[in-house]
Amino acid sequence: MSSGPDQVAPRPEIFDFQGVSMIHFFTDNWENIQNFQARPDDILVATYPKAGTTWVSYILDLLYFGQTERQTSVPIFKRVPFLELTIPDFGSGKDDADNLPTSPRIIKTHLPVQFVPKSFWEQNCRIIYVARNAKDNAVSYFHFDRMNMMQPEPGDWSGYVHRFMEGKLVFGSWYDHVNGWWKKKQTYPKLHYVFYEDLVEDTGREIEKLCCFLGLSRSDEEKQRIADGAHFDNMKKNDMVNYSNVVVMDFKISPFMRKGKVGDWKNHFTEAQSLQFDEDYKKKMTDVTLQFRCDI
Ligand code: PPS
Repeated sequence: MSSGPDQVAPRPEIFDFQGVSMIHFFTDNWENIQNFQARPDDILVATYPKAGTTWVSYILDLLYFGQTERQTSVPIFKRVPFLELTIPDFGSGKDDADNLPTSPRIIKTHLPVQFVPKSFWEQNCRIIYVARNAKDNAVSYFHFDRMNMMQPEPGDWSGYVHRFMEGKLVFGSWYDHVNGWWKKKQTYPKLHYVFYEDLVEDTGREIEKLCCFLGLSRSDEEKQRIADGAHFDNMKKNDMVNYSNVVVMDFKISPFMRKGKVGDWKNHFTEAQSLQFDEDYKKKMTDVTLQFRCDI
């Protein structure tokens, strides 16, 4: 898919799909998506929306393919197709993934773990899951829903934060998503779980870990170049990764590369909202082995 349909249709309605809140853009092509044929060297980047998908996708693309002409001519969403996205009469991420000329293929998904097409497991593909603390994730998603006309209307922040807690945003509950993937990691060794906060804290260290997981060896200079190229300020300026060519996104409302920070939630949550959120969080996040940082 390239930039999106010329005519912006009304915003989609959210509905329950097999227990997960979804919109039709991600369920229209369901059978084809479920039957997607993964290859053993495919790399799946899985996240709850707004956890750092684009950042990690770009790092992987640079690690595998370097600074080629592709970097200046093919937008990231073409290089790393969004598997379950289908825009009627326009295109589908599944077809884009099928037609990717690269090897390996790097593929993006926001699916909760139970919805991942089975061939990824059968082919024993490497999967990188990126997770971000709930509060910053909610804030980032709120601004994204404001600016992306293909997402449901977010309404005001106070209602939004409640719907986040109830799991009523597209791709369902953040809590179920991060926990489901964390649990999968215990039985599926080829899953690397990355925290957005760790990436912000030390991108070089996380690139090193990615190389280790992927069995790649790159020179220190190359890794430094990648960390620099994938720095927030550089990605924000880079039209091939900043989504500026996507017509359904209104950057006047909020840019895709918005802040790129840990702790921006403090500018959005009132004290009361934060307390209520924390109380609810404790009830839902009972696995003490999965810890997030809301501050670094
Ligand atoms: S999407 O639409 O789900 O694919 O969005 P995703 O790419 O997962 O998340 C977007 C948020 O990630 C931030 N981002 C970065 N932060 C730090 N450094 C780099 N290089 C970077 N690239 C993207 C982006 O700014 C969004 O977060 P917020 O908090 O809204 O700024």
